[in-house]
Amino acid sequence: MILLDGKLVSAEMKLKLKAEVTEMVAAGKRAPHLCAILVGNNGASETYVSSKVRNCEEVGFGSSLIRFDSDISEEVLLDKIHEINDDETIDGLIVQLPLPPQINVQKVTEAISPSKDVDGFHPTNSGRLMQNLPAFIPATPYGILMMLDYYGIQTEGKTCAVIGRSNIVGMPMSVLMARNDSPGNCTVTLCHSKTKNLEQVTAASDIIVAALGRPGFVKENMVKEGAIVIDVGITRVPSATTKSGFKIAGDVDFQNVSSKCAYISPVPGGVGLMTIIGLLKNTMAAAKKEISF
Ligand code: GUN
Repeated sequence: MILLDGKLVSAEMKLKLKAEVTEMVAAGKRAPHLCAILVGNNGASETYVSSKVRNCEEVGFGSSLIRFDSDISEEVLLDKIHEINDDETIDGLIVQLPLPPQINVQKVTEAISPSKDVDGFHPTNSGRLMQNLPAFIPATPYGILMMLDYYGIQTEGKTCAVIGRSNIVGMPMSVLMARNDSPGNCTVTLCHSKTKNLEQVTAASDIIVAALGRPGFVKENMVKEGAIVIDVGITRVPSATTKSGFKIAGDVDFQNVSSKCAYISPVPGGVGLMTIIGLLKNTMAAAKKEISF
């Protein structure tokens, strides 16, 4: 079994990004700048956003974190997004999800300029991704593709079960694994809560991407010998052994599944770290205006 080591791959990729920023600045250009908006004080969102900001600093990007209280109106949030869309010193904008119930997530998603949408959630970007046109790819699927590529994993002609159909991971991942590209060219089954015989589908698949947010869901009997297993789960579960009182659990029962796999990504230390790379690469591409809209 080979561990898909997010720590190793992300560290290497951050060094490359940092070198690219140094070159940009030496050539008299501005370093890429990411702006993150955080509404309320959801513990997990706080952790993710501070990690995004910290990683920006690590590679030499500029970053700004804009905070709003959880009772902010939709109008105020939309106004701020429009202001950032017009700010030429900011290349990428993300609004951390989830948002409080008074705010329409779709309106917020569509308010972000597609050219600054480094989360890749705007319908322009997801539509372009569907058509295999240049687009910002959502950070987690993008990170997984980079991980597969780094380890030289051949995906062409393989069967791939994606579990979970979220807009953030499962849905775009299924499209990316199916498209005529590398990594890609898989025969994909997109599994979800209504899927019948899910165990049989996954047990027959060469690649499994587990992105449903249920700790330990993928068990030994659901995985075939020699499979490639990508664990996207990042659920906080109570823990008596950590200072914070919780630990991060993946969607795969790693202890019992890993010995059957050709490759498996751990949690923590796997996909989560690659998600950050996806976001940083998108921000770099936005700064360089690599994608024309
Ligand atoms: N919430 C969970 N994952 C994400 C993500 O990738 N981007 C944003 N904006 N919010 C999230």
